[in-house]
Formats: sequence, C-alpha cells, structure tokens
Amino acid sequence: MIPIIKYTGATILLLTVLIQTGQLYPHHDIMNFGCEECKLKENNIFSKPGAPVYQCMGCCFSRAYPTPLRSKKTMLVPKNITSEATCCVAKEVKRVIVNDVKLVNHTDCHCSTCYYHKS
Ligand SMILES: *[C@@H]1O[C@H](CO)[C@@H](O)[C@H](O)[C@H]1NC(C)=O
Ligand SMILES: *[C@@H]1O[C@H](CO)[C@@H](O)[C@H](O)[C@H]1NC(C)=O
Repeated sequence: MIPIIKYTGATILLLTVLIQTGQLYPHHDIMNFGCEECKLKENNIFSKPGAPVYQCMGCCFSRAYPTPLRSKKTMLVPKNITSEATCCVAKEVKRVIVNDVKLVNHTDCHCSTCYYHKS
C-alpha cells in the first residue's frame, strides 16, 4: 500500500506544478501514464502493402525543476521553476506522396520540444 500512496502523491504534486506553471499540454501524454513509449507506428490510413508510412506516437515525460542559474540569465522573464515538457516527435522525416497526398514518413523518433500547433 505505502509505495502506491507515495507514487500517487508524487503524481499529484507533479500535476499541480504543471498546472500552476501553465505547462499542462492539451494532449494527454502526461495524464496517460500507462501509454506506450515514444516510437514509430504504422499509419493505417495511408500505409499500403509494401509502402508503409510511419508516424511517431507515444509518451514522453515532463518534469519541472528549479531554473539553473546560467539559463536564468538568458531568460526574458526569469522564472524560478522551469518546466520542461517533451513530446514524442519525429527526429527524421522523409517527404512522400501517397495517393496524391503529401505526407511525411517519419523515420526516427525522440522525445523533444513540443510543437504547439500539433495537428
Ligand atoms: C517510409 O519509411 C520506411 C522506413 O524508412 C520505408 O520502409 C517505407 O517504404 C517508407 N514509405 C513510403 C511510402 O515511402
Ligand atoms: C524567485 O526567487 C527569488 C529569490 O529566491 C525571489 O525573490 C522571487 O520572489 C522568486 N520569484 C517567484 C516568481 O517565485
């Protein structure tokens, strides 16, 4: 029981920090603790036999920590707490055209800066 209670407490604390700093992103990577790791998955809509199209999907972690002094100096508005959110994004893409639709075929994924205008 005790480890479960501790885990829940830490989770709530993390979420509270994220909400207060406005860093809770609308997609549910953070909420969805059970979700799969960030990796390439086949896109079922555009994939054809012999020509699979891949997309990066999955979860990455977000964390908040005190702002390191050296980066505080470079900030326009210094913040005591920095929160770093990471999203599962493509590291490498190739442009492909499938059925006259321009797509990007992801070839490598990593956890990196979130794009705000994620489609
Ligand atoms: C997408 O990339 C994968 C692996 O790099 C490749 O096997 C596949 O043929 C590519 N798909 C298209 C439609 O080019
Ligand atoms: C950040 O920390 C400094 C020094 O510890 C303090 O004076 C300031 O009020 C803090 N700012 C915020 C937004 O908490």
